[in-house]
Amino acid sequence: MTNQWWRDAVIYQVYPRSFADGDGDGVGDIAGIRARLGHLRDLGVDAIWMSPWYPSPMADAGYDVSDFRDIDPVFGDLSEAEALIAEAHEAGIRIIIDIVPNHISSEHPWFKAALAGGKERDYFWFRKSQNMPTNWVGEFGGTAWTKVDDDTWYLHLFTPEQPDLNWEHPAVRAEFESILRFWFDRGADGIRIDSAALLFKDPALPEVVEGEPHPFHDLDAVHDVYRSWRRIADEYEDRALIGEVWMPDVERFTNYLRPDELHAAFNFDLLGCAWDPYLMRSSIERTLDAHAGVGAPPTWVLSNHDVTRHVTRYGRADTTFSFENNLDGTPADLELGTRRARAAALLTLSLPGSAYVYQGEELGLWENESIPEDQIQDPMYARRGHTRDGCRVPLPWSGDEPPYDFTTGAPWLPQPAEWKDRTVQAQTGDPSSMLELYRSAIRLRAFKDRDFAWLDRGAGVLAWTRGADFACVLNLSGGPVPLPEHETVLLASGPLDGDLLPQDTAAWLRLK
Ligand code: NOJ
Repeated sequence: MTNQWWRDAVIYQVYPRSFADGDGDGVGDIAGIRARLGHLRDLGVDAIWMSPWYPSPMADAGYDVSDFRDIDPVFGDLSEAEALIAEAHEAGIRIIIDIVPNHISSEHPWFKAALAGGKERDYFWFRKSQNMPTNWVGEFGGTAWTKVDDDTWYLHLFTPEQPDLNWEHPAVRAEFESILRFWFDRGADGIRIDSAALLFKDPALPEVVEGEPHPFHDLDAVHDVYRSWRRIADEYEDRALIGEVWMPDVERFTNYLRPDELHAAFNFDLLGCAWDPYLMRSSIERTLDAHAGVGAPPTWVLSNHDVTRHVTRYGRADTTFSFENNLDGTPADLELGTRRARAAALLTLSLPGSAYVYQGEELGLWENESIPEDQIQDPMYARRGHTRDGCRVPLPWSGDEPPYDFTTGAPWLPQPAEWKDRTVQAQTGDPSSMLELYRSAIRLRAFKDRDFAWLDRGAGVLAWTRGADFACVLNLSGGPVPLPEHETVLLASGPLDGDLLPQDTAAWLRLK
């Protein structure tokens, strides 16, 4: 296994509830993942990022953790997790574990002890006040404080079942350092850090005022925590810390990537960007420049368990994404979205840095926007009117109808009847399928450590080279464009018209 693998890896996000179910209860689990590891080996990914699998009341699908050193029974047990790590390593696949440091579950022993008046109260943000201590709006919308008795409130930036921890307290810091070691000792190759920029709050609790320092986003004190986490990671061999940092200010973003802090962070700039050549080029340039400045590898993300699947996004009239601009239910041309998603895969898999593939993206799944309201589980829905369930629907493996071999029971969220030609089985061996496109692209990434340079192919065309003999060309110009002189077309996201590259199509070329 190579050193600094995170710099150019393809990292596949497993959302355990929806990957594969081994015990027939309709919810994915570790047994299911172990049974389907061959899919990830055949896809050729370098690493898996596991969304949380810890004991949890599932108020936020596992991002409300009640014990970071165990596995929720719905997913299996610790010995199965260890077996999965070992089997993945045997298959040459690394494992990234998800750690959620901003908050824990209200069922965690610490919070229960805090409510009972124990010393643990200081590990949280309790405030005595007649009225709500601040008017802060939580990250899912809605208020950020819940009352526990006549005049005491606690802070939760997400749901009331996710009380925020007080990172000023040494016990909180010590606990998470011990949790990192726990998982590194069990072979975890990396840690994905949830809501990495939110940990600290201004103890004066000021209101959010435009132009003033934000009371809970990106406070400088957080960097000291990541410096100490980096020292721990460095005690082990080849372990990576990867931050979930949503931040429009690129300079503030790259502060997290200074040489003694995190190894990488999710770059969501391109994910939110419209399908537009000028905006996409400037997003890519901004990303490359910012990361070069700190010597960190860029990352490329098209989808994850929080955002509308990009087949749907790219099929809409408005192709941007942001939580503030809810486009749920606006018409989506899925054929167009699929064509663009195929081209986007060749884009993200050929840019310098590491690329994330969210489970189902390799199958070309779209957002399920027809989940009946009474089956919606995402706590964001009640607060923002947007549900993330549509991108969390269980994967289709084989067969002609739901549950497509995901489970022998009833899947926890309904799968569309139209997914019968999106199963792994239906796509395997079909050279025109999304799955075979991903398999080929990942196999062909031998250029991944070569120098990047833009190639000028005229207005509306994004093109670059990696080293002397590889180029990626993506046509967003509105009509067919000629391919540059080349020796071979290594891979194309759609049919070519001789030496013409049709609109919304990308090609990988070996140059003469
Ligand atoms: C970010 C996670 O990706 C999301 O799913 C979760 O709801 C919040 N953080 C809170 O943990």
